[in-house]
Amino acid sequence: MKNNAMSVAKKLLQKTVPLAPKTYTAYAPANIALCKYWGKRNTALNLPINDSLSISLGKKGTHTTVEPIEGLKDIIFLNHQPVLKTDITYHYITQHLHLFRQCFGQQAFRVISHNTIATAAGLASSASGFAALTQAIIGSYGLSLPQSSHSILARLGSGSACRSIGYGFMWWQAGTRLDGQDSFATPLDCQWPTLQVGILTITTQKKHISSREGMQHTTNTSILYPRWPQEAAKHLQAIKAAIKQQDFKTFGEQVEQNALTFHATMLASWPPLCYWTPDTLQHIQSVWRARENGVKVYLTMDAGPNLKLLFESNQVKAIKQIWPNLDIIQPFVSI
Ligand code: DP6
Repeated sequence: MKNNAMSVAKKLLQKTVPLAPKTYTAYAPANIALCKYWGKRNTALNLPINDSLSISLGKKGTHTTVEPIEGLKDIIFLNHQPVLKTDITYHYITQHLHLFRQCFGQQAFRVISHNTIATAAGLASSASGFAALTQAIIGSYGLSLPQSSHSILARLGSGSACRSIGYGFMWWQAGTRLDGQDSFATPLDCQWPTLQVGILTITTQKKHISSREGMQHTTNTSILYPRWPQEAAKHLQAIKAAIKQQDFKTFGEQVEQNALTFHATMLASWPPLCYWTPDTLQHIQSVWRARENGVKVYLTMDAGPNLKLLFESNQVKAIKQIWPNLDIIQPFVSI
Protein backbone atom coordinates (compact mmCIF):
# COMPACT_ATOMS: atom_id res chain seq x y z
CA MET A 1 0.00 0.00 0.00
CA LYS A 2 1.19 3.53 -0.80
CA ASN A 3 2.34 5.46 2.26
CA ASN A 4 0.55 8.76 2.52
CA ALA A 5 -0.83 10.60 5.53
CA MET A 6 -4.31 9.12 5.04
CA SER A 7 -3.11 5.49 4.84
CA VAL A 8 -0.77 5.89 7.82
CA ALA A 9 -3.54 7.44 9.95
CA LYS A 10 -5.97 4.73 8.87
CA LYS A 11 -3.57 2.02 10.01
CA LEU A 12 -3.45 3.57 13.49
CA LEU A 13 -7.11 4.49 13.80
CA GLN A 14 -8.72 1.33 12.52
CA LYS A 15 -7.63 -0.46 15.70
CA THR A 16 -9.84 1.81 17.82
CA VAL A 17 -13.58 2.13 18.36
CA PRO A 18 -14.83 5.75 18.34
CA LEU A 19 -17.62 7.11 20.50
CA ALA A 20 -20.06 9.69 19.15
CA PRO A 21 -17.99 12.89 18.81
CA LYS A 22 -18.45 15.46 21.56
CA THR A 23 -17.03 18.87 22.34
CA TYR A 24 -13.53 18.49 23.72
CA THR A 25 -10.75 20.89 24.70
CA ALA A 26 -7.07 20.01 24.77
CA TYR A 27 -3.87 21.84 25.51
CA ALA A 28 -0.39 21.22 24.13
CA PRO A 29 2.80 23.04 25.08
CA ALA A 30 5.04 24.68 22.50
CA ASN A 31 8.51 23.20 22.28
CA ILE A 32 11.93 24.58 21.57
CA ALA A 33 14.31 22.30 19.72
CA LEU A 34 17.65 21.87 21.48
CA CYS A 35 18.85 19.70 18.62
CA LYS A 36 16.96 20.74 15.49
CA TYR A 37 14.87 18.78 13.03
CA TRP A 38 15.86 20.06 9.59
CA GLY A 39 15.32 18.00 6.45
CA LYS A 40 12.83 15.27 5.56
CA ARG A 41 13.24 11.77 4.25
CA ASN A 42 9.54 11.82 3.35
CA THR A 43 7.76 15.15 2.88
CA ALA A 44 4.21 13.71 2.79
CA LEU A 45 4.66 12.07 6.21
CA ASN A 46 7.00 14.67 7.73
CA LEU A 47 9.59 11.97 8.33
CA PRO A 48 12.88 13.53 9.38
CA ILE A 49 16.41 12.82 8.23
CA ASN A 50 17.81 13.28 11.74
CA ASP A 51 16.70 12.68 15.33
CA SER A 52 15.85 15.81 17.32
CA LEU A 53 15.37 16.79 20.94
CA SER A 54 13.25 19.52 22.47
CA ILE A 55 12.12 21.04 25.70
CA SER A 56 8.40 21.71 26.13
CA LEU A 57 7.39 25.16 27.32
CA GLY A 58 4.91 24.41 30.10
CA LYS A 59 2.06 26.90 29.95
CA LYS A 60 3.14 28.47 26.66
CA GLY A 61 1.32 26.65 23.93
CA THR A 62 -2.07 26.14 22.31
CA HIS A 63 -5.57 25.55 23.68
CA THR A 64 -7.91 23.97 21.14
CA THR A 65 -11.59 23.11 21.34
CA VAL A 66 -13.27 20.97 18.72
CA GLU A 67 -17.05 20.95 18.60
CA PRO A 68 -19.06 18.72 16.24
CA ILE A 69 -21.45 20.84 14.14
CA GLU A 70 -24.16 20.35 11.53
CA GLY A 71 -23.26 21.01 7.91
CA LEU A 72 -20.42 20.09 5.62
CA LYS A 73 -17.76 22.70 6.23
CA ASP A 74 -15.51 23.17 9.22
CA ILE A 75 -15.52 26.56 10.91
CA ILE A 76 -12.15 27.60 12.27
CA PHE A 77 -11.12 30.37 14.64
CA LEU A 78 -7.51 31.07 15.44
CA ASN A 79 -6.63 33.59 18.12
CA HIS A 80 -10.24 34.90 18.13
CA GLN A 81 -10.24 35.55 14.35
CA PRO A 82 -12.14 33.44 11.79
CA VAL A 83 -9.80 31.63 9.40
CA LEU A 84 -10.93 32.07 5.78
CA LYS A 85 -11.53 28.95 3.70
CA THR A 86 -9.01 30.28 1.18
CA ASP A 87 -6.30 30.50 3.84
CA ILE A 88 -3.56 27.82 3.82
CA THR A 89 -4.05 27.35 7.58
CA TYR A 90 -7.69 26.40 6.93
CA HIS A 91 -6.51 23.84 4.40
CA TYR A 92 -3.95 22.29 6.78
CA ILE A 93 -6.44 22.04 9.67
CA THR A 94 -9.25 20.50 7.59
CA GLN A 95 -6.74 18.08 6.04
CA HIS A 96 -5.79 17.01 9.55
CA LEU A 97 -9.44 16.46 10.46
CA HIS A 98 -9.87 14.35 7.29
CA LEU A 99 -7.34 11.87 8.72
CA PHE A 100 -10.00 11.02 11.32
CA ARG A 101 -13.10 11.53 9.14
CA GLN A 102 -11.92 8.97 6.59
CA CYS A 103 -12.32 6.35 9.35
CA PHE A 104 -15.17 7.70 11.46
CA GLY A 105 -17.44 9.28 8.84
CA GLN A 106 -18.20 12.75 7.57
CA GLN A 107 -18.48 15.20 10.44
CA ALA A 108 -17.84 18.93 10.41
CA PHE A 109 -16.25 20.66 13.41
CA ARG A 110 -15.96 24.12 14.83
CA VAL A 111 -12.34 24.46 15.83
CA ILE A 112 -11.45 27.22 18.25
CA SER A 113 -7.78 27.56 18.91
CA HIS A 114 -5.68 30.14 20.68
CA ASN A 115 -2.00 30.38 21.33
CA THR A 116 -0.33 31.69 24.42
CA ILE A 117 2.79 32.07 22.25
CA ALA A 118 3.34 34.18 19.09
CA THR A 119 1.96 32.56 15.93
CA ALA A 120 4.33 31.81 13.00
CA ALA A 121 7.35 33.82 14.14
CA GLY A 122 9.66 30.89 14.76
CA LEU A 123 8.13 30.40 18.20
CA ALA A 124 6.92 26.92 17.47
CA SER A 125 3.18 27.63 17.39
CA SER A 126 2.52 25.12 14.58
CA ALA A 127 3.96 22.41 16.82
CA SER A 128 1.65 23.12 19.75
CA GLY A 129 -1.19 23.87 17.29
CA PHE A 130 -1.14 20.48 15.61
CA ALA A 131 -0.46 18.65 18.86
CA ALA A 132 -3.44 20.33 20.56
CA LEU A 133 -5.68 19.71 17.52
CA THR A 134 -4.66 16.03 17.48
CA GLN A 135 -5.30 15.61 21.20
CA ALA A 136 -8.63 17.46 20.93
CA ILE A 137 -9.95 15.31 18.10
CA ILE A 138 -8.74 12.11 19.80
CA GLY A 139 -10.58 13.29 22.93
CA SER A 140 -13.68 14.24 20.97
CA TYR A 141 -14.03 10.68 19.63
CA GLY A 142 -12.99 9.20 22.99
CA LEU A 143 -10.23 7.17 21.33
CA SER A 144 -7.97 5.02 23.39
CA LEU A 145 -4.59 5.16 21.67
CA PRO A 146 -1.00 4.79 22.86
CA GLN A 147 1.11 7.95 23.21
CA SER A 148 3.18 6.88 20.19
CA SER A 149 0.04 7.11 18.03
CA HIS A 150 -0.76 10.61 19.39
CA SER A 151 2.76 11.61 18.42
CA ILE A 152 2.60 10.05 14.93
CA LEU A 153 -0.80 11.61 14.21
CA ALA A 154 0.47 15.03 15.35
CA ARG A 155 3.56 14.59 13.13
CA LEU A 156 1.34 14.15 10.09
CA GLY A 157 0.19 17.76 10.69
CA SER A 158 3.63 19.21 11.37
CA GLY A 159 6.86 17.38 12.16
CA SER A 160 7.80 19.23 15.34
CA ALA A 161 4.25 18.74 16.67
CA CYS A 162 5.12 15.13 17.48
CA ARG A 163 7.31 16.45 20.33
CA SER A 164 4.54 18.70 21.72
CA ILE A 165 2.44 15.83 22.99
CA GLY A 166 4.47 15.69 26.20
CA TYR A 167 6.37 17.76 28.76
CA GLY A 168 10.03 18.06 29.66
CA PHE A 169 12.67 16.83 27.24
CA MET A 170 11.15 15.10 24.22
CA TRP A 171 13.27 12.94 21.93
CA TRP A 172 12.00 12.36 18.41
CA GLN A 173 13.65 9.35 16.82
CA ALA A 174 13.75 9.63 13.06
CA GLY A 175 13.05 5.91 12.60
CA THR A 176 13.77 3.94 9.46
CA ARG A 177 10.41 2.51 8.42
CA LEU A 178 8.90 3.79 5.19
CA ASP A 179 5.50 4.24 6.83
CA GLY A 180 7.05 6.10 9.79
CA GLN A 181 5.45 3.91 12.46
CA ASP A 182 8.77 4.07 14.33
CA SER A 183 9.11 7.86 14.02
CA PHE A 184 7.61 9.48 17.11
CA ALA A 185 8.67 11.36 20.22
CA THR A 186 9.06 10.05 23.75
CA PRO A 187 9.96 11.90 26.94
CA LEU A 188 13.47 11.54 28.36
CA ASP A 189 13.24 10.12 31.82
CA CYS A 190 15.05 13.13 33.25
CA GLN A 191 14.06 16.35 35.02
CA TRP A 192 16.14 19.50 35.34
CA PRO A 193 14.18 21.70 37.76
CA THR A 194 16.67 24.60 37.76
CA LEU A 195 16.68 24.92 33.96
CA GLN A 196 15.07 28.09 32.58
CA VAL A 197 14.21 29.20 29.06
CA GLY A 198 14.01 32.90 28.25
CA ILE A 199 12.20 34.07 25.15
CA LEU A 200 13.75 37.16 23.65
CA THR A 201 11.16 38.34 21.18
CA ILE A 202 12.55 40.56 18.46
CA THR A 203 9.47 40.44 16.27
CA THR A 204 6.15 38.58 16.26
CA GLN A 205 5.65 39.23 12.55
CA LYS A 206 4.93 36.23 10.33
CA LYS A 207 8.17 34.90 8.87
CA HIS A 208 8.85 35.33 5.15
CA ILE A 209 9.56 31.63 4.49
CA SER A 210 7.88 28.84 6.46
CA SER A 211 9.97 26.11 8.10
CA ARG A 212 8.46 23.68 5.62
CA GLU A 213 9.73 25.62 2.60
CA GLY A 214 13.00 26.60 4.26
CA MET A 215 13.80 23.03 5.16
CA GLN A 216 13.15 21.82 1.62
CA HIS A 217 15.21 24.63 0.13
CA THR A 218 18.13 23.85 2.44
CA THR A 219 18.14 20.10 1.74
CA ASN A 220 17.92 20.78 -1.98
CA THR A 221 20.56 23.49 -2.31
CA SER A 222 22.81 23.95 0.72
CA ILE A 223 26.40 22.87 0.10
CA LEU A 224 26.68 22.25 3.86
CA TYR A 225 23.55 20.12 4.18
CA PRO A 226 25.29 16.74 3.52
CA ARG A 227 27.24 17.34 6.73
CA TRP A 228 24.18 18.29 8.83
CA PRO A 229 22.84 14.82 9.82
CA GLN A 230 26.18 13.64 11.21
CA GLU A 231 26.78 16.90 13.14
CA ALA A 232 23.25 16.83 14.54
CA ALA A 233 23.74 13.23 15.65
CA LYS A 234 26.89 14.22 17.55
CA HIS A 235 25.14 17.20 19.14
CA LEU A 236 22.22 15.02 20.18
CA GLN A 237 24.40 12.44 21.85
CA ALA A 238 26.36 15.11 23.75
CA ILE A 239 23.21 16.99 24.78
CA LYS A 240 21.58 13.83 26.10
CA ALA A 241 24.68 12.94 28.09
CA ALA A 242 24.90 16.50 29.48
CA ILE A 243 21.23 16.36 30.53
CA LYS A 244 21.83 13.09 32.33
CA GLN A 245 24.78 14.57 34.22
CA GLN A 246 23.11 17.99 34.62
CA ASP A 247 26.28 19.45 33.13
CA PHE A 248 24.99 22.88 32.13
CA LYS A 249 28.17 24.10 30.39
CA THR A 250 28.36 21.18 27.95
CA PHE A 251 24.59 21.28 27.50
CA GLY A 252 24.60 24.99 26.61
CA GLU A 253 27.62 24.78 24.33
CA GLN A 254 26.20 21.88 22.35
CA VAL A 255 22.74 23.43 22.05
CA GLU A 256 24.18 26.74 20.85
CA GLN A 257 26.50 25.01 18.38
CA ASN A 258 23.62 23.01 17.01
CA ALA A 259 21.59 26.20 16.45
CA LEU A 260 24.46 28.07 14.81
CA THR A 261 25.37 25.10 12.59
CA PHE A 262 21.73 24.94 11.56
CA HIS A 263 21.64 28.64 10.62
CA ALA A 264 25.01 28.37 8.83
CA THR A 265 23.65 25.45 6.81
CA MET A 266 20.69 27.59 5.73
CA LEU A 267 22.97 30.48 4.82
CA ALA A 268 24.91 28.14 2.51
CA SER A 269 21.74 27.49 0.47
CA TRP A 270 21.16 29.19 -2.85
CA PRO A 271 19.45 31.62 -2.98
CA PRO A 272 20.70 32.13 0.59
CA LEU A 273 18.27 31.68 3.41
CA CYS A 274 18.62 33.86 6.47
CA TYR A 275 16.00 34.33 9.20
CA TRP A 276 18.09 36.84 11.14
CA THR A 277 17.54 40.58 11.30
CA PRO A 278 20.23 43.07 12.37
CA ASP A 279 18.62 42.97 15.83
CA THR A 280 19.07 39.20 15.96
CA LEU A 281 22.81 39.56 15.48
CA GLN A 282 22.99 42.31 18.06
CA HIS A 283 21.29 40.06 20.60
CA ILE A 284 23.51 37.10 19.74
CA GLN A 285 26.50 39.31 20.45
CA SER A 286 24.97 40.45 23.72
CA VAL A 287 24.71 36.79 24.80
CA TRP A 288 28.35 36.21 23.91
CA ARG A 289 29.33 39.41 25.80
CA ALA A 290 27.33 38.31 28.84
CA ARG A 291 29.20 35.01 28.81
CA GLU A 292 32.55 36.78 28.61
CA ASN A 293 31.46 38.66 31.71
CA GLY A 294 30.77 35.44 33.58
CA VAL A 295 27.01 35.01 33.06
CA LYS A 296 26.22 31.39 32.33
CA VAL A 297 23.83 31.75 29.42
CA TYR A 298 23.53 30.13 26.00
CA LEU A 299 21.23 30.72 23.06
CA THR A 300 19.24 28.82 20.51
CA MET A 301 17.05 29.94 17.61
CA ASP A 302 14.57 28.23 15.36
CA ALA A 303 13.58 29.28 11.84
CA GLY A 304 12.95 32.87 12.80
CA PRO A 305 14.65 35.98 14.15
CA ASN A 306 13.87 35.44 17.84
CA LEU A 307 16.29 34.10 20.43
CA LYS A 308 15.71 31.64 23.22
CA LEU A 309 18.12 31.81 26.12
CA LEU A 310 19.05 28.89 28.34
CA PHE A 311 20.28 29.37 31.87
CA GLU A 312 19.82 28.03 35.40
CA SER A 313 17.92 29.64 38.24
CA ASN A 314 21.07 30.94 39.96
CA GLN A 315 21.65 33.25 36.95
CA VAL A 316 18.19 34.84 36.86
CA LYS A 317 19.22 38.04 38.65
CA ALA A 318 22.11 38.74 36.27
CA ILE A 319 19.99 37.79 33.26
CA LYS A 320 17.17 40.15 34.24
CA GLN A 321 19.63 43.02 34.54
CA ILE A 322 20.75 42.51 30.96
CA TRP A 323 17.34 41.62 29.45
CA PRO A 324 14.66 43.18 31.71
CA ASN A 325 11.81 42.24 29.34
CA LEU A 326 12.78 38.60 28.94
CA ASP A 327 9.85 36.18 29.15
CA ILE A 328 11.14 33.46 31.48
CA ILE A 329 9.73 29.94 31.49
CA GLN A 330 10.57 27.22 33.98
CA PRO A 331 9.82 24.10 31.95
CA PHE A 332 9.90 21.76 34.93
CA VAL A 333 8.08 24.00 37.37
CA SER A 334 5.25 25.67 35.44
CA ILE A 335 3.54 22.54 34.17
C1 DP6 B 1 13.46 24.98 12.98
O1 DP6 B 1 7.87 21.16 12.26
O2 DP6 B 1 7.44 23.50 11.46
O3 DP6 B 1 11.63 24.56 14.42
O4 DP6 B 1 7.29 19.38 9.55
O5 DP6 B 1 7.23 21.00 7.68
O6 DP6 B 1 5.67 21.28 9.59
P1 DP6 B 1 7.02 20.79 9.13
O7 DP6 B 1 8.12 21.71 9.84
P2 DP6 B 1 8.19 22.23 11.32
O8 DP6 B 1 9.76 22.56 11.42
C2 DP6 B 1 10.37 22.92 12.63
C3 DP6 B 1 11.76 23.31 12.38
C4 DP6 B 1 12.50 23.93 13.53
C5 DP6 B 1 13.36 22.90 14.23
C6 DP6 B 1 12.65 21.98 15.18
O9 DP6 B 1 11.59 22.32 15.74
O10 DP6 B 1 13.22 20.90 15.43
